[in-house]
Amino acid sequence: MSMFSTGLLVLTSPLQTLPLRIAPVLSSAAQLVERTLYVHLHPGLNLSSGSQPRPVFIPPVVDLSTLITRLYNNAADVCGHLDVRVLLTNMRAQPTACSETTSPNCPFPTPQPLFHCPEVVLTDFAPQDPHQSHQVKQCLEKYTGHCYVCTPGISSVLLHPQLVKLLENRDAPKDDEGPKAEPMETYSDVVVGGTFDRLHGAHKTLLSISCLLANRRFVIGVCDQAMLKKKVLKELIEPYFKRVQRLREFLQDTKPSLQVEIVPLEDPFGVSIVDPLLKCIVVSEETRKGGEAVNKKRVENGLQLLVLHEIQLLKDAHHDEIEEEKISSSSLRSRLLGTLLTPPKDPSHLPPTPYVIGLTGGSGSGKSSIAKQLEVLGAVRIDCDKLGHEVYQFGTEAYHKVLRVFGSEILNEDKTINRRALGAKVFENQERLKCLTDIVWPEIALLVKQTINQAREEGKEVCVVDAAVLLEAGWTDLVHEVWVTIIPEEEAVVRITERDGISTEDALRRLQSQWSNSKQVKHANVVLSTLWEPEVTRKQVLKAWNLLQKRIQQKKEG
Ligand SMILES: *[C@@H]1O[C@H](CO)[C@@H](O)[C@H](O)[C@H]1NC(C)=O
Repeated sequence: MSMFSTGLLVLTSPLQTLPLRIAPVLSSAAQLVERTLYVHLHPGLNLSSGSQPRPVFIPPVVDLSTLITRLYNNAADVCGHLDVRVLLTNMRAQPTACSETTSPNCPFPTPQPLFHCPEVVLTDFAPQDPHQSHQVKQCLEKYTGHCYVCTPGISSVLLHPQLVKLLENRDAPKDDEGPKAEPMETYSDVVVGGTFDRLHGAHKTLLSISCLLANRRFVIGVCDQAMLKKKVLKELIEPYFKRVQRLREFLQDTKPSLQVEIVPLEDPFGVSIVDPLLKCIVVSEETRKGGEAVNKKRVENGLQLLVLHEIQLLKDAHHDEIEEEKISSSSLRSRLLGTLLTPPKDPSHLPPTPYVIGLTGGSGSGKSSIAKQLEVLGAVRIDCDKLGHEVYQFGTEAYHKVLRVFGSEILNEDKTINRRALGAKVFENQERLKCLTDIVWPEIALLVKQTINQAREEGKEVCVVDAAVLLEAGWTDLVHEVWVTIIPEEEAVVRITERDGISTEDALRRLQSQWSNSKQVKHANVVLSTLWEPEVTRKQVLKAWNLLQKRIQQKKEG
C-alpha cells in the first residue's frame, strides 16, 4: 500500500462509542499516513444515505472534550511519529440549520486551507453493504473537498470496515442521537500559559480544549528566557520564535476563526493578571495552584475572577525511570539525549576511518567518566588533558616557546615547567592566556592527529577525543561529530567543590571562564547528561554508542 504524507481522518461514529474506537482507527491510519494526520469530527455522518451530506455545526459538549483528550492520548501511544491535529472549525454552539451551502451560518462557506494539503481522506464509516463502498468513497471525497482545500484527485480509504463492524457489535450505542449530552460553558476570552516546547499531545489537548472554550479571543503566554532558568535540560528547549511559530501553525489549522494572541511570559503571571477582558484560564491538575494565584492577583488589581477550567493530564505509555509519567516536554527532551540532534558536518576533509568523536563539556559535567565508558565499549580514548602535560615536557617545541614568552621564573629547579607558576601568570589575564593557548593548542592538536593516525594503523574503528577545550580551540575540524555533556550549573558547582576541594566562588569563577552549556549545545551533534543515577548515564551512553554504530554502518554502505 502506498504511503501519504498528509491525511485527513473523518470520524463518523457517535460520540458515545467513538472513544473505544479511536486506538484501532488511529493505528490503521498510521499505516497509510507518514507525517500529518488531520482529524475531522462529524459524529453520526451517514455517507450512504443516498444524498450528498453537508458539514454541520457540532455543539461543544463535555463528551467532545473527553474525546479530544482521549484522541491525543491514544495518538501518543499508537502513532507517536504522526503530527495529529483535531480540526475544530465545525465545533460551535447555536447549530443553525444550513439550507444554503454559502450561508455564513454554515461551517466552511469556502473550503478551509490547511498548512499541509491532505492527499488522502480516511474514514471509520462502514457501509452496511460492501458493494456500496465505491459510492461511499465518492461521497466522502466530495464532502471533504467542500470542507478543506485538498490535493486535486484526492484518494480515499475506508479503514478496515470489518474491524469497525466488529467493534460495532461490542459497543452498541445506548443513545444514538449524540448531542443530547451536557453542553460546555464557553467564554469570549480564554488564556493559557506554558513553555510549549516540542508541541506534544498534552499541549495539543490543552490548546484544543481552550479553542472549544473560546468564542472570540485566545491569549497564550509563552515562557521566555527568565522563565526557563529552572527547567530540566533547558539547553535543549526550542528557541522562543520556533515555539511560537508551531503554536500559530497549530491554531491556524485548528480554529482559524479565533483571534490568537501570543505574548512572552517573563514572570509566572504575565498578561493574565492585567487583561480585563479575560474570562477563563485553562489549567491542568499540576498548574491549578498557578491559576488560583492568578485570581488572587486579579482581585488585587481590581479585575474580575477567571473561571478555572481544569483538564486531565495524559498518561504516557512509553515513559522510563527518569521521565515523569505524564507526557511532558522535559521527558521528551530527556529522550533526545544520546540521539543525533543535528547531522554531522561534511567530513570529506577527514579520512573515513577511524570515525572520530570530539567529546566536550564544562567542569564537573562528567565528560571524562563518559569518555571512559565509551572506551569500555570499544573506542580509543584520546585524553587531551594528558596530551597537554606532554607538550610541556622538557625540550619540546612548546617548552621553548613558553620559556621565551614567560621567562625562566616559571621553571622548576630541574628545568621542567612549573604549571602552577605558569597558571598564576595567566590567571585572569586574557591576553597572556591567549598567548599561552596559541602556543600549546596547536601542539596538542598535532598529538591528537598522531594518535588518530596510530589508531588507524591499528585498525581501530572509533576514537573519542576527550577535550574540555574542543570548541574554544577550534578542534572541531579534527572530528566527525561533536558530543557535549551538560549538567546544570548548581550541580556542577557541588561536584567541583567536592572533587577539587575549592570554594563555591572559585568553582563558579571556573565555570564562568568556560563556554556556557547552551553555547556548547549549539555546536553539538549529540548531547548527553550525567544528571541522574550512574545507571541512567550508562544506558544513555550505550544508546548513543549503538546509534553511532548504526550511522557508521550506514556510511560504509554508502
Ligand atoms: C444511512 O442511511 C441509509 C439510507 O437512509 C440507511 O439505510 C443506513 O442504515 C444508514 N447508515 C447508517 C450507518 O446510519
